[in-house]
Amino acid sequence: MNTVKTIRELRAAVAQARAEGKQIGFVPTMGNLHAGHAALVEKAAQRADFVVASIFVNPLQFGPNEDLDKYPRTLAADQQKLLEAGCHLLFTPDVEEMYPNGMAGQTRISVPGVSEGLCGASRPGHFEGVATVVTKLFNMVQPDLAIFGQKDFQQLAVIRALVRDLNMPIQIIGEPTVRAEDGLALSSRNGYLSAEQRSAAPVLYRSLQEIASAIRAGERDFARLVNAAQQQQVAAGFRPDYLEIRESNSLRPATPEDRHLVILVAAFIGNTRLIDNLALDLEATR
Ligand code: PAF
Repeated sequence: MNTVKTIRELRAAVAQARAEGKQIGFVPTMGNLHAGHAALVEKAAQRADFVVASIFVNPLQFGPNEDLDKYPRTLAADQQKLLEAGCHLLFTPDVEEMYPNGMAGQTRISVPGVSEGLCGASRPGHFEGVATVVTKLFNMVQPDLAIFGQKDFQQLAVIRALVRDLNMPIQIIGEPTVRAEDGLALSSRNGYLSAEQRSAAPVLYRSLQEIASAIRAGERDFARLVNAAQQQQVAAGFRPDYLEIRESNSLRPATPEDRHLVILVAAFIGNTRLIDNLALDLEATR
């Protein structure tokens, strides 16, 4: 696996793979990789001949009081994991390479609709930062397909919308969330948790599972379900940010008639904000 830091080197390596007739798969990341990222790279290696990953902690998607400075940088360990997962080329640009004219005057991509509410409401500017950096990375790599985790459900919806609306010839593939044995979704931010917080954290996913079971059993009083789940989260030491039931394709608030639902949660434990979601397809039980 080669590691390159400049767009020029990246383009040369991708052009060579293309000239050899290879399909290009791309996995953008911010590093501090775990088994969830490895699953994305493994999927890319199954679906494409040449796998490119990027590691770039994108300042444009962090708010002023967020964890940009303390976001873990673990390049050597990340390189090893990428190599084992089947990555061929790693792109690790610095901020100057990505934003040579600074960020203030940077052209930005804004995706209306799916980026509004949920994390879009709690983290103003976040999805504009994500959509902008992903568009830039797509233009640099020009992959045939790109893989993203379903753990960031709203992010995946934003990226699908931008690829559709900007006519990018890139297939977007969503990969299921990888979980610890106790159900906690793997996340780079789990590393911030104390032992006590880590043992409380699986409550988040359990509360989503309980909502899903109740809906499958016929319950449609969404407000009541959300309220009960948030009480459960508070009792476990969480400070709720949001917990919502949405229609999973459009991300509009769900109605009792909807068959494709997603339950999305964000909550703080200490200073750490965790997100998770559970998609639920009722078609089979109609
Ligand atoms: O999901 C992430 O790690 C980031 O939001 C992404 C897609 C790499 C853009 O910086």
